Amino acid sequence: MVKAVVLGAAGGIGQPLALLLKANPLVTELGLFDIVNTPGVAADLSHISTPAKVEGYLPPDDGLKKALTGADVVVIPAGVPRKPGMTRDDLFKASIYFTNIYDGLFLPSSQINAGIIRDLATGIATTAPKAFVLVISNPVNSTVPIVAEIFKKHGVFDPKRQVIGDLSLSKEIVVPVVGGHSGVTIVPLLSQSSHPLPSGFSKESLDTLVNRIQFGGDEVVKAKDGAGSATLSMAYAGAEFAAKIIRAVKGEKGIVTPTYVSAEVDPSGSAALAKELGEEVAYFSTNVELGTEGVTKIIPLGKITEAEQALVKAALPELLKNISTGVSFVAPPK
Ligand code: NAI
Repeated sequence: MVKAVVLGAAGGIGQPLALLLKANPLVTELGLFDIVNTPGVAADLSHISTPAKVEGYLPPDDGLKKALTGADVVVIPAGVPRKPGMTRDDLFKASIYFTNIYDGLFLPSSQINAGIIRDLATGIATTAPKAFVLVISNPVNSTVPIVAEIFKKHGVFDPKRQVIGDLSLSKEIVVPVVGGHSGVTIVPLLSQSSHPLPSGFSKESLDTLVNRIQFGGDEVVKAKDGAGSATLSMAYAGAEFAAKIIRAVKGEKGIVTPTYVSAEVDPSGSAALAKELGEEVAYFSTNVELGTEGVTKIIPLGKITEAEQALVKAALPELLKNISTGVSFVAPPK
């Protein structure tokens, strides 16, 4: 029996993600929460003949709590997406006011996605503290630390389960993507690709390819021309990631995937990683091994090229800044 819950289930990512989870035969219960339209999405999905029993919830009458009760896996695509010209970090301080539906207060304009994630994480920490939490809402480099800090505040933090940032990847061609999840913090390790680059691949072509991977999300934002960011590909990646967690929890061994996690998840693995990076980083994306308890092992970067080392070095200052923005949002520095 596996209950999966989507928070932000009526959105551009949330709806196709809910569809893909409904199609997963391992999911037996699907809870859908959003501030709008979840009863409709749930009614629609319930006409699909797969095992999962689907229920939609809205904020009134403790909807968040009801959605989360008994949750094994929670996926969060709630929040505001990017418009052309915006970076993921801009979403942390998007310049519109948002009514905090939980306590009726206006959040300062600087705290849109950060405030949404804080409130949803509080709901998970109090109702389903043992759930695996997969965070899609941007800026992931900062929202994952926010979830962790909220769980710490409630005394239920378990880095194996609760601080998993989602990163898109393809099934056929596997390229480990390490670092973080925005612009220069995205570091593709093409030298470790399952499909190595052809010999004679020029430095210029390599730079172009790396840049395309780092800023690929912007292509979608631009093509959608104001109508949002990547939703369908992200929903697919999120559903694949959730499926991997569910398979690992059910006992499948050897599942390895790049994931943005807390260094606390595996102190010896993160110490080896810190040695490679030349400094300690509280959150970092690298290959991790999944097990019945969630993330069991951090796998250091291994052999990488000089050019990749330079990319890692360039990623660190931005990543450290993003992490501290997330952490100090919950626990402001004294
Ligand atoms: P969207 O605007 O289509 O959907 C967001 C949904 O969140 C809406 O249905 C909205 O009602 C809901 N929502 C807002 N506040 C909420 C709250 N307090 N509780 C529950 N639900 C709430 O946006 P879209 O395109 O689905 O993107 C969602 C998030 O995912 C954005 O932050 C976006 O930047 C991020 N994203 C992340 C990617 C990644 O690779 N990690 C890729 C693409 C987007």
